[in-house]
Amino acid sequence: MEFVLDTADISAIKEYDELLNLAGVTTNPTIITKSGKKPEEVIKELVDYLRLDQKLFIQSVSTDFDGIMEEARYICGLRPENTYVKIPVTREGLKAIKAAKAEGLNVLATAIYSADEAFLAALNGADYLAPYVNRMCNYGDGVGQTIDLINMLAAQGVESKVIAASFKSVEQVHELIAAGIQAVTVQPDVVKQMVDHPGTEIAVDEFTENWNKAYGRKTLR
Ligand code: E4P
Repeated sequence: MEFVLDTADISAIKEYDELLNLAGVTTNPTIITKSGKKPEEVIKELVDYLRLDQKLFIQSVSTDFDGIMEEARYICGLRPENTYVKIPVTREGLKAIKAAKAEGLNVLATAIYSADEAFLAALNGADYLAPYVNRMCNYGDGVGQTIDLINMLAAQGVESKVIAASFKSVEQVHELIAAGIQAVTVQPDVVKQMVDHPGTEIAVDEFTENWNKAYGRKTLR
């Protein structure tokens, strides 16, 4: 199971890369604009920082077939391996996913709002499918649709992996991991909530306090 960080913030990437086993990083155009830096600069930071066994996912910005294909080739050529173009599942995007796979590029189908559009992208060969779990909740049950998608792929023997995205709560991540999802991409604020449970801090403070009271020190020896 792959745990991916959904950010272009290099300091957050370094922080969680030290703490966790990160399988890679996803970005989208909005995430990159939030850095306040030029896109080329952000992309270079990501390429320079990530190990080659960590996956890098960068989204195309053009919305027409030729533009998406040109950007897909550029993105996938940024590193020798494990670099994926994220292509939104519009009509032009679906066409581009099919063509990009025919060229042997690594593709993540993104901006997915239903299990059905994800399934069509899977039939076009997308390596990963990114349902926007929280955004899907505006139209129904985002978690439920994503579980349907996992089941549809398994029932039909289609090999695309689901990388659920757009989480706004730990509960959403939890439910999909429990359902057997292959990958999640989670924003640093939600990862922080998973990592920093207040109960753990309280428990450790209590151990230290009791030890200190009994032995007059805060270390084992
Ligand atoms: C993945 O990289 C998606 O683009 C991202 O999770 C979308 O998140 P948002 O719904 O918070 O914009």
